[in-house]
Amino acid sequence: MSDAYLQLDKLTLAYGDTVAVKDLDLSIARGELVALLGPSGCGKTTTMRAIAGLLNPASGRINLDGADITRVSANKRAVGLVFQSYALFPHLTVYENVAFGLRLKGLRGQDLDSKVNAGIRSVGLAKFAGRKPGELSGGQQQRVALARSMVMEPKVLLLDEPLSNLDARLRLEMRAELQRVQKETGVTMIFVTHDQAEALALADRIIVMLNGGIEQIGTPEEIYNNPISSFVADFVGFENVFALKDGKLATANGAIALSTPAPDVAAGLAWRPRAVILGSGPFQGTVRGTSFAGNSREYLLDSALGPIKAEVDAALPQHELGSTIAFDLPVDAAANLKRFG
Ligand SMILES: Nc1ncnc2c1ncn2[C@@H]1O[C@H](COP(=O)(O)OP(=O)(O)OP(=O)(O)O)[C@@H](O)[C@H]1O
Ligand SMILES: [Mg+2]
Repeated sequence: MSDAYLQLDKLTLAYGDTVAVKDLDLSIARGELVALLGPSGCGKTTTMRAIAGLLNPASGRINLDGADITRVSANKRAVGLVFQSYALFPHLTVYENVAFGLRLKGLRGQDLDSKVNAGIRSVGLAKFAGRKPGELSGGQQQRVALARSMVMEPKVLLLDEPLSNLDARLRLEMRAELQRVQKETGVTMIFVTHDQAEALALADRIIVMLNGGIEQIGTPEEIYNNPISSFVADFVGFENVFALKDGKLATANGAIALSTPAPDVAAGLAWRPRAVILGSGPFQGTVRGTSFAGNSREYLLDSALGPIKAEVDAALPQHELGSTIAFDLPVDAAANLKRFG
């Protein structure tokens, strides 16, 4: 990509003999907010550590803002890193925590004071500048960690699951806060999460990682609507995912034909529960479970295809447990998967 600001070239990362990330290629534009999404152990933190300079690549290169930084030490990279655990100094005030890195850089007096105060203000903590971390809530501590990184004016800010220690409400608040700070400052951000809703809500682009490689890169809409593989489909909530064999669904009961032919180009098809048609169609399902979810109701059906998850408007008449319903998996409402397994 010609407008790459941060570029990873065939990056391979290992711990001793264990290869954690293999041949990773990635281009990120200046000012982008990118989410790294993937299951535990897929290599997200490892990739972050390499970009930050905390792990030397086994092979490959890292370029940032036109310079090769592969062998540049961590403290000379202008890369900020915010962890899940805020790693604040407990004995220092908010002010001193935020000032710490700037002092190391040699800032003093008025220059230091105005930068620290601006940083603390930007995350809404002006009133708490004199407090110590132990006198703050989790969300406030996370803001201190964010301010402490931002005052260093990093070229790239890496956030490794920064919200996972917060409760649901604070998470939403901090999500909005992060987005605001990023838009206001224009800092390039890579945000690690294994929460797909968080990635969809925050990111300009999502990188889905699996087994030390990239499975798919796309906008939230692309990832949500057009998962490339059965893995991504599963990960973003398509509950009904099937391999195709000779244009039919491959099931435990053999190949089963759909009501219209499946496209040749796909290795599999996937339907969100919403896309399943209940009440008509060529298939029969027995209701094994039902759950009310406010506007909608979810059904778990047993069928010749295997278990099927369907979701319909809660205002529709309810189907009883044990009853049999006709259903359809319409081909035109399915995501076409290019890879299966
Ligand atoms: N210090 C280490 N020594 C050896 N292997 C490691 C080390 N750190 C991580 N690994 C291995 O490297 C792989 C990638 O780990 P990594 O921490 O990057 O995963 P992750 O995607 O961040 O997972 P999580 O979502 O659980 O944080 C895993 O298989 C892990 O066991
Ligand atoms: Mg991790």
